[in-house]
Amino acid sequence: MKVLVVGSGGREHALARKIEESTLVEEVLCAPGNGGTAGFCRNLDLHTKDAAGIEKACKEEGIGLVVIGPEEPLCDGLGDRLRREGLAVFGPGAEGARLEGSKLFAKEFLERYRIPTAAYRRFDRAGAAKSYLEAVSSWPQVVKADGIAGGKGVFVCHDPGEACGVVDAVMEERTLGAAGAEVVIEEFMCGRELSIQVMTDGRTICLLQPVMDHKQVGEGDTGPNTGGMGIYSPVGFVSQRLMQQIELQILLPTLHGLVVEGIDFRGVLYAGLMITDAGPRVLEYNCRFGDPETQAICMRMKSDIVPYLLATAEGRLEELDPPEWDPRACVGVVACTRGYPGGYETGLPIRGLERAEAVEDTVVFHGGTRVDGDDVLTSGGRVLCVTSLGSDLDEARRRAYEGYGRIDWSGKFCRNDIGLARPTRPGMAEPASPTYGHFEREPGRSSPLRESVGGQGDLP
Ligand code: AMP
Ligand code: GLY
Repeated sequence: MKVLVVGSGGREHALARKIEESTLVEEVLCAPGNGGTAGFCRNLDLHTKDAAGIEKACKEEGIGLVVIGPEEPLCDGLGDRLRREGLAVFGPGAEGARLEGSKLFAKEFLERYRIPTAAYRRFDRAGAAKSYLEAVSSWPQVVKADGIAGGKGVFVCHDPGEACGVVDAVMEERTLGAAGAEVVIEEFMCGRELSIQVMTDGRTICLLQPVMDHKQVGEGDTGPNTGGMGIYSPVGFVSQRLMQQIELQILLPTLHGLVVEGIDFRGVLYAGLMITDAGPRVLEYNCRFGDPETQAICMRMKSDIVPYLLATAEGRLEELDPPEWDPRACVGVVACTRGYPGGYETGLPIRGLERAEAVEDTVVFHGGTRVDGDDVLTSGGRVLCVTSLGSDLDEARRRAYEGYGRIDWSGKFCRNDIGLARPTRPGMAEPASPTYGHFEREPGRSSPLRESVGGQGDLP
């Protein structure tokens, strides 16, 4: 089978590499891919927004499975368009992608299905938003642009002056373009962040290993938000009890909501969570694999990923057993270029990639690179993700930073504290294997869903 991966980031490099390992796959193509995928895939010169070009390529190449990585083409309906042509597509249609594409849609959905999240207000006028902010007494407040902003549309503000400045920038100056036409202002939640990703065909969910992402650009979680500065997995504080809570209070009701609303969701549902003292709360939904979370998922997944992608696309995920996972730890350090998440230079030659991959159990996933003759050049802000396995987080961390240190270009930087967070709550341990739930329609009952959870391994 030929598989087409749509996208050009580290996530797509990781997926393409994992897919390429499958015995079911004869060739992996990327649209457009990057300098990393060029080494083992056929990169097609197609932009992710070129839906007509991608559809044509699928037909001409006889593609058996399309995996759509980024949110923009999903929100634009690329999944719907390709499915209408009879293709097997991993990735939700435009309706499902609204969970990510519109913060307002997501908040209203969360409210409708009573899924725990922060209290919020919506504003379509800057004046009203600022009046509200000047009157509110509890700080911080979180200002979120409604539309897609590449992880850069969320601002934790500590006083009215700061928050009103953000509202002016986003809504009046349109620093994030159309994404800032409306804003959500929500209460600030304290706790620990956790990303939970599941593959789902709308009826069955297959839980992927929890991965911790470091979102802020500066060490100690300081500075503006980014798409993600590094990852580690497993996440020590995730107990079986917490996973069950997440499943029952968040994942199941989300799936239920999708079914009730008639949304046929086939792809990754990603719940960005805050684990508060009162339990898990949804920060955001994404409608696709996380980047760089996927780099850790692909490194730790021992099973062939292709049957899972295909079964999700074809709506028969319930036929599969849960995937097997490498018990080793994974750490990924994102190498950025000076200026990110603001403006930055591109076209800088990168040295030392081979030496970095010579570090044991280390893969350098390319996020923003392109090949130019014999050179690999930077082409984005998050350029690489140096990702290592190790017997524990310390070893994985040492390897990832060793690999990072062997790479060089002018203006390279990273966070030096990736993977340093440690379990703090006594009695909370990492599950031996992730839980796995089946959700099925049951005719003749008022609730369209029935749940049976199995395959939990010997959890504490
Ligand atoms: P989001 O894109 O909505 O996940 O937000 C990006 C980041 O902003 C999150 O990962 C959190 O670190 C932070 N954040 C967003 N909403 C809140 C909130 N209500 N309370 C605290 N932090 C938040
Ligand atoms: N790393 C966060 C995201 O993919 O949204």
